[in-house]
Amino acid sequence: MIFGCAIILAAGKGTRMKSRLPKVLHKLGGKYMIEYVINGVRELGVEKLIAVIGHEAEMVRQALGEDVLYAVQKEQLGTGHAVLTAMPHIREEEGQVLVVCGDTPLIKPETFKKLWDFHRENKAACTVLSAFLPDPAGYGRIVREEGRVVKIVEQKDASPEELSIHEINTGTYCFDLKSLRKALTLLTPNNAQGEYYLTDVLSILVSQGLKVKAVTAEDYQETMGINSRSQLAEAEKVLRERKIYQLMDEGITIIDPASTYIEQDVTIGRDTVIEPFTFLRGKTIIGSECIIGPEADIKDSIVGNGVNVNRTVMIEASVGDNCRIGPFAYLRPGTKLSHNVKIGDFVEIKKSNIGEHSKVPHLTYVGDAEVGKNVNIGCGTITCNYDGKHKYRTIIKDRAFIGSNTNLVAPVEVGEGAMIGAGSTVTKDVPPDGLAVAREKQVNIPGWAARKRKQQEEK
Ligand code: UD1
Ligand code: CA
Repeated sequence: MIFGCAIILAAGKGTRMKSRLPKVLHKLGGKYMIEYVINGVRELGVEKLIAVIGHEAEMVRQALGEDVLYAVQKEQLGTGHAVLTAMPHIREEEGQVLVVCGDTPLIKPETFKKLWDFHRENKAACTVLSAFLPDPAGYGRIVREEGRVVKIVEQKDASPEELSIHEINTGTYCFDLKSLRKALTLLTPNNAQGEYYLTDVLSILVSQGLKVKAVTAEDYQETMGINSRSQLAEAEKVLRERKIYQLMDEGITIIDPASTYIEQDVTIGRDTVIEPFTFLRGKTIIGSECIIGPEADIKDSIVGNGVNVNRTVMIEASVGDNCRIGPFAYLRPGTKLSHNVKIGDFVEIKKSNIGEHSKVPHLTYVGDAEVGKNVNIGCGTITCNYDGKHKYRTIIKDRAFIGSNTNLVAPVEVGEGAMIGAGSTVTKDVPPDGLAVAREKQVNIPGWAARKRKQQEEK
């Protein structure tokens, strides 16, 4: 364990988001904004995490679960007041505390580490993580005198001269606990926003003759705070690029990073090629040597090795090795394809198992079905699984051959090696190796069409 503990500030409403959701629950790369901060701090080895919650506290608590401790800040009186709210959870022995904002999700674990190492080496009472921004608007500025940090001034309280400072406060700090505890009691809300600013702790410590330092994050992009929807989109772009470049480093080909959307928890095996306009979401796992896309949208699914997925939507499905899917297939939750399965165009599958080497090549709905190995399902087949009240299962055994345009009215079973004539509506079980034909017999009337034409000509 490196730190005693960490405080994550997440009680604010996020007024500038103009949202029903608390700010820290807005999602980036498929995860809550605050989850990035929590994971980053956890990677440092911090065990005790205290989230300060307030606005829609229950929502935040529900989203994060019991992995962290909570301090409830009933009224959001400022970041200093938020830290004060967390103090009863902290024991003196814990020594040093890391304070981070729930709205800076891009900070990397190595940057937290840099801050911590610097803080410890310098034996400072406070070290703030700063950054140099080309456009510092909106952030607190780090004010130095003769190179030393003397205070942080908020945008709204800054003089024109201070506004021209490009070194900003990232909202991430290490504090010596004892010094912090004392300084917090001295905060006043005498500022433009009438709030108890955590940032004022720094000038208080300086006035007490204590050591206050700033360490700079090399990549200023990391330190971006998200206060608005446009910043949310900017951060999304940064995270997306990070993920895509990491995957390319790991041996995955991404044809067009600009049109590829891969969420943070997705994993992909080597030599897989991701074609443009592809979305990989949630906890999706893709094997190696696959070709995914163009235009695949895959969520929470597991895809084996050597699979092709072309222009397909897939949700909570699992796909075995060497399957061929699409174009234009829709694999819905509970779809389980074994190895070497072919699913073709305009096929929808839901809650069904499909055995090895089986084929569903075109225009078919398979729902609530158990399909064996080496089965061929003809074009236009429909499992009629729903009578308006209940769902029923269809069972198709190994090597069965379902003729085109068949309706399988569930519950029904097609035996091993059985065949069904095209256009049948099957309502009864078909015995193994049998043939079922369930359609009107064809009637041919010789000369009928010619007679009809003649009648019309005579009119
Ligand atoms: C804050 C800093 C600013 C810094 C910026 C970095 C202060 C006074 N200002 O400004 O110097 O450049 O972050 O992104 O600290 N929060 C609470 N309770 C409150 C108020 C806020 O928990 O009473 C939480 C918010 O939920 C948020 C974080 O603290 O996660 C920061 O608050 P926010 O209002 O976004 O501060 P900024 O104006 O961005
Ligand atoms: Ca902020």
